[in-house]
Amino acid sequence: MKFASVIRSTPQEAAEACGSHLLRIVQEAVEARGAANIAVSGGSTPKLLFEYLAASGADWSRVDLFWVDERAVPPGDPQSNYTLAYDHWLQPAAYPAVRVHRIHAELPVSEAASRYALEIRTHFDLPPGDLPVFDAIQLGLGADAHTASLFPGEALVTDREGIAAAVYVEKLMAARVTLLPGVLLRARNILLLVAGADKRQAVQAVFQDEESLAEKPAQLVRHCQGSVTWFLDEEAAAPAR
Ligand code: 6PG
Repeated sequence: MKFASVIRSTPQEAAEACGSHLLRIVQEAVEARGAANIAVSGGSTPKLLFEYLAASGADWSRVDLFWVDERAVPPGDPQSNYTLAYDHWLQPAAYPAVRVHRIHAELPVSEAASRYALEIRTHFDLPPGDLPVFDAIQLGLGADAHTASLFPGEALVTDREGIAAAVYVEKLMAARVTLLPGVLLRARNILLLVAGADKRQAVQAVFQDEESLAEKPAQLVRHCQGSVTWFLDEEAAAPAR
């Protein structure tokens, strides 16, 4: 695994650095393989990334876009990760709909997860039991050191075979669909975009704490096969008190 961290003064600058790295990866993938496959997260931090990508004027016609996870809500819901991307990137950039592979989380979550896994298997033309290799997966980090929708205590943090699953997040009392660790670990490039003082402890936990994936699922990124690049603002990168 190749590892790097990029620290910028503000969340905006960290998001722009992340976006320009993602665009480089996409361009290299299209030049090398004629297409790129990427997955993005949701929450709040990626909004700045999406706005940067929308304004970049990039050609998305060969870039298949997937999601790392999705809340169990329909498109249009303020909680929807798809809607966050649509409002701040896909719609303003006129992203080709045929390249957008949203998680149909308006369905019962187990059905949504199975449907999403099948869409990925079909798109990547995977032999049975094989896992997709994304060119880039953008992850966030929760203050509790979760990533994707793999929260502390989630047993699926040890799953290395599956593609996607439905999870129930006790602390949020909410169901979600998430990519599973095996997919995250195989990506050619992992980009972690993290901003805010509330993430300091979690950043330190991933960088320094003794490994306990059950308690700190984001420590998974220590085992990625590809390159892992952190994009942090100064607040998140500062030593935790
Ligand atoms: C989600 C995300 C999740 C997110 C972290 C950080 O659906 O919420 O995919 O893993 O990346 O919770 O979220 P913020 O960027 O809002 O802090």
